Amino acid sequence: MMIVPGIQSPREITQEEVSAICSIKNQYWPHSMASQLEWWEEHTDKDDVFVTLLNGGSILAFLRLRKRTVAVSGTCLDALCATEVCVDELHRGRGLGKQLLDVAATHIKSTGSSLAYLLCWDTQAAFYHACGWRRLTSPQIRSSNGRESRSLAANERCMVFDPQNRLNGQIVLFGDVF
Ligand SMILES: CC(C)(COP(=O)(O)OP(=O)(O)OC[C@H]1O[C@@H](n2cnc3c(N)ncnc32)[C@H](O)[C@@H]1OP(=O)(O)O)[C@@H](O)C(=O)NCCC(=O)NCCS
Repeated sequence: MMIVPGIQSPREITQEEVSAICSIKNQYWPHSMASQLEWWEEHTDKDDVFVTLLNGGSILAFLRLRKRTVAVSGTCLDALCATEVCVDELHRGRGLGKQLLDVAATHIKSTGSSLAYLLCWDTQAAFYHACGWRRLTSPQIRSSNGRESRSLAANERCMVFDPQNRLNGQIVLFGDVF
């Protein structure tokens, strides 16, 4: 296999690529393809970054990076929130997930704050740990309007990519974190 990484903005991605990504997402978060595509339309922001791995033009793995803000003991920093991490089921367990996270890490390091986070279930945390992300205990998650705030559920984990070790102290994550 000849794996080629891709980094695209919503403006650059084609409808055919969106369909290919939605069909991989549908393997793990099953809905109709129509509702996958509708969700994509509704929840894609112009600042999103799409990270893919391709083989011979076919997309085998995908994740999205969303522009977000985190507060570290009251000081706001830009951060990227990774969502929808997935590898085509036919190609799982062969290192593609790790390669995808490596491509994302290179992109994250190229941004000013060099910070990213994601929420996952406890059963998925070991994968992110194997990719160099660490667990952040007890962040607060606040809606973008600041009105609702919550802690992590018992089986939820917050994993961070934070090579400069800036996420210390009381952390608040702002905005949607799906
Ligand atoms: C989770 C997922 C992205 C991992 O991709 P993958 O290509 O299967 O994983 P890799 O082969 O690159 O594995 C990388 C490392 O993580 C480990 N790993 C992978 N899945 C794991 C899991 N579920 N639990 C623990 N460790 C795991 C591997 O053992 C490997 O460790 P090593 O480098 O020490 O050998 C993929 O399996 C997937 O799409 N799962 C379904 C969707 C999903 O749950 N996404 C996460 C949403 S938060």
